Amino acid sequence: MCGIVGYVGHRQAQPILLSGLKRLEYRGYDSAGIALLTDSGLMVSKSVGKISMLEAVLGDSEHKSTHGIAHTRWATHGEPNEVNAHPHTDAACEIALVHNGIIENYRTLKEYLMRKGYKARTDTDTEILVHLIHFNYNGDLTEAVRTALTQVEGTYGIAVVSSHHPDLIIAARKGSPLVVGLGEGENFVASDISAMLEHTKRVVYLEDGEIASVTPNDYHITTIQNVEITPRIQEISWSLDMIEKSGYDHFMLKEIHEQPATLRNAHRGRLNFEKGIARLNGLNLQYDELRRIKRVIITACGTSWHSALIGKYIIEEMARIPVEVEYASEFRYRSPIIDENTILFAVSQSGETADTLAAMREAKTRGCTVLGVVNVVGSTIARDSDGGVYIHAGPEIGVASTKAFTSQVMVLALIGNLLGRMRQLSVQESQEMIEWIQKIPDQIEEIFATEDSIKEIAKAYYEKNNFLYLGRGINYPVALEGALKLKEISYIHAEGYPAAEMKHGPIALIDENMPVVVIALKDPVYDKVMSNIAEVQARNGHVIAIATEGDTEIVERVNHVLYVPQTHRLFTPLLSVIPLQLLAYHIAVMRGCSVDQPRNLAKSVTVE
Ligand code: AGP
Repeated sequence: MCGIVGYVGHRQAQPILLSGLKRLEYRGYDSAGIALLTDSGLMVSKSVGKISMLEAVLGDSEHKSTHGIAHTRWATHGEPNEVNAHPHTDAACEIALVHNGIIENYRTLKEYLMRKGYKARTDTDTEILVHLIHFNYNGDLTEAVRTALTQVEGTYGIAVVSSHHPDLIIAARKGSPLVVGLGEGENFVASDISAMLEHTKRVVYLEDGEIASVTPNDYHITTIQNVEITPRIQEISWSLDMIEKSGYDHFMLKEIHEQPATLRNAHRGRLNFEKGIARLNGLNLQYDELRRIKRVIITACGTSWHSALIGKYIIEEMARIPVEVEYASEFRYRSPIIDENTILFAVSQSGETADTLAAMREAKTRGCTVLGVVNVVGSTIARDSDGGVYIHAGPEIGVASTKAFTSQVMVLALIGNLLGRMRQLSVQESQEMIEWIQKIPDQIEEIFATEDSIKEIAKAYYEKNNFLYLGRGINYPVALEGALKLKEISYIHAEGYPAAEMKHGPIALIDENMPVVVIALKDPVYDKVMSNIAEVQARNGHVIAIATEGDTEIVERVNHVLYVPQTHRLFTPLLSVIPLQLLAYHIAVMRGCSVDQPRNLAKSVTVE
């Protein structure tokens, strides 16, 4: 997704802006650019490709400037090239703008401005916005931006500078996150706190429909309708090393290995063993309200949708409440049936996914209580929910979600426990589950000890072009997640399927060139899965099994075995997914892929 960084203060802006962009690289982009206010006016440089290409264009000379904006672009309108890269300027290069989001009525605005004599030089919707600001400019940059935005339909997170206003950045948001960072004699604007974390931990999140005027020693926020806003200054809890690689080759590998710690964080302070109950005050629901819930909907996208599917199994088993899992992009355009006893959970690592946010807002307009299961504190979904539970996984930089997935599953299990204990789940059963939960982090460490075996399997299969992942019951969503991990970072086509469904079509694909990963744990459906494995083997398929420690029988029945420790059957996904994350990672590395920033992908899909 696009990234925005702005700086105004007493230090040289160029290095601050470029290092800020590098902190946002993980979000995915295809071009970059910078605008600096120098003594001779606005200096704009842009390049297609990585930030290093922009640095090459800038050359060794540092442009003297204490004020500027910069951008990484993920193309939505207009192909990724230098011309379409941001910042965009007016014809006289006196106003520069960077933009995240989509101006949906840009064609209408373009026709209007063309009639006023403006000429479009790019294929982007963003350029139209800077011309509109220029058209409305009468000496007051804030007012010009405000007036222009009242004519815009769509989503935006923007930062604007002008050579007429040294030391002023205008920032505004509607549907695309923006944060103001507060320093000493300097201030920052960014689309993600990672870009400013090394400079300040004091931030003000802009809300939709707000506009900020930022100078080195002050800032001022109003609504687009010019209503004063009292800013709420928040202290970021993340540390800088949390967004560094800490010696790992990739953020993804670091985040896979962080899971024992992040899972402890997910349940820390939330489990009362004596009463056998989870404590989730953030839900903002009293026990009688929790008891009245008759139906749960969980909506999400991608990996978060997979964790939601696992949450369905867990909550239905613990609380005996029907749970429906919905793709957010489908839910938002259906006419969902929601009554006063329905509750909706929006699961999202970034808290900014456009489809999930829209689905949540659709449910809200129908009177549904909506709760967030979110990682990024202060994100839009977190702020727009009626309550929720933060998963406390820390910043997830790798585009492929790993630690957020397991922490989402953990939090959904805590929610299942709480709802269950309001109903028929006994203290004893709950205490047994809590004991299993508390063993999981150490058990994941045991799986890490098998990483060399996983690498060996990766070496044997990294050149294959297709994979099939099979699982049953609560591990069927893990098969989906394992397939998604592989395809999104190695570009190998991989499909996840319910193991029994293989007979209804996919079995036609099985041959020696189609490795089949099967989650075959010692659980109630083990024998059925073993039959599926036999069907694969009978067609010369190669089977890589994820099995339960101590299961020696399976060794004779498959080509490779990766073991995971025994745990409560409702928590097996927290373990069975780990070898699949590592398998995808090592295959992608062996294929020379860009593991942390896979092609075409963004960390947070804030556009539809
Ligand atoms: C997962 O590895 C992908 N990066 C993607 O599917 C992601 O899970 C999806 O876009 C949802 O993102 P969210 O959790 O931030 O809402």
